[in-house]
Amino acid sequence: MIRPSSRLPGFYHLPPQQRQDALAAWAALDSEQQAALAGGLDLAAAEQLVENVVGLYALPLAIAPNFLIDGRDYLLPLVIEEPSVVAAMSNAARLARAGGGFHTGSDEPVMIGQMQLLDVPDPDAARDRILAAQAELLAGLQGLHPTIRRLGGGPLGLEVRPLLHTPAGPMLIVHLLFDTRDAMGANAVNTACEALAPALETLSRGRVLLRILSNLSDRRRAWAACRVPLAALDSETFAGAAVAQGIVAANAFALADPYRAATHNKGIFNGIDAAALATGQDWRAIEAGAHAYAARDGHYRALTTWQIEAGHLAGRLELPLAVGVVGGMTRHHPTVRVALHILGHPDARGLAQILAAAGLAQNLAALRALAAEGIQQGHMALHQRRQT
Ligand code: MEV
Repeated sequence: MIRPSSRLPGFYHLPPQQRQDALAAWAALDSEQQAALAGGLDLAAAEQLVENVVGLYALPLAIAPNFLIDGRDYLLPLVIEEPSVVAAMSNAARLARAGGGFHTGSDEPVMIGQMQLLDVPDPDAARDRILAAQAELLAGLQGLHPTIRRLGGGPLGLEVRPLLHTPAGPMLIVHLLFDTRDAMGANAVNTACEALAPALETLSRGRVLLRILSNLSDRRRAWAACRVPLAALDSETFAGAAVAQGIVAANAFALADPYRAATHNKGIFNGIDAAALATGQDWRAIEAGAHAYAARDGHYRALTTWQIEAGHLAGRLELPLAVGVVGGMTRHHPTVRVALHILGHPDARGLAQILAAAGLAQNLAALRALAAEGIQQGHMALHQRRQT
């Protein structure tokens, strides 16, 4: 289906009911889906999710228009309590649109499960035996996840990593690489790790302690890039070229300094978490993985790069993004299902790419405001003006 443009001038000025109507028309929402926008989760569904439920807790669900991602128009559903984030993202998406929008990509959805082997008498020999038995070990897992297998996923391989100098002495860590397709995959990976453990104990002659996925899902990265024409950054008081230079210098600060990088990356998560919450994702897992990734060379840094290229400000964000569109909240939460509908029912990789674009948009908005009029005057005032 060809989607209408996501440029919705005036959307911001509509009263909420009319905004709902405009959204319903744009995304072809039926009456049940429209009711879910305000209704959300009920107690019975909440009981399916966690224990000891005593109530429900509501947050605003908003829409950021203007997104063009890989040539396709998107309205981004966002759940967030912080003023100005939605307006800032809408504004940044409009700037990115002037340069063709966001271009995104992602890895195959490969998660890592970890098994910790202790008291291994000969780590080198154990590693050789485990790797020699790899095909047989993986074959033993095939029956465990019929749905993931049917969809083309499943266990892919093993890696063995000796950790010889830990406070608890030497240990051998086995990684299971597992393609979880459209699932976030924590359950599938944890089940597989538990199933592998007895054979690993036999092969290593040690004992297995932890069997759990790693949230540093660096085999499952997503990235987004955009190129904003410098003229699009012009304002009444600032020349676009000067703003772009300021953004490049601000990003350099966050690449060099962890104090600034934490704030810079926090802004990125204003966008990613808001879209992750709306679409029912485990945002703690996403944050944990991304912050570890931001420190992968031993120094915590910005997750983005920004540079000036041929009359454009060019930005890129890359991070691990383990998301799923089946199971969990995507099954039990009616508003999450509507949010995924508004996004056109992306698969897990597509959703990760949308989240990466959301993060880059928020970073562009924050750096633009910081490098020009300042965050209080600019970014924070955006929810009162100028987002259309
Ligand atoms: C505020 O929630 C986020 C910012 O501090 C991000 C940044 O400084 O880049 C504006």
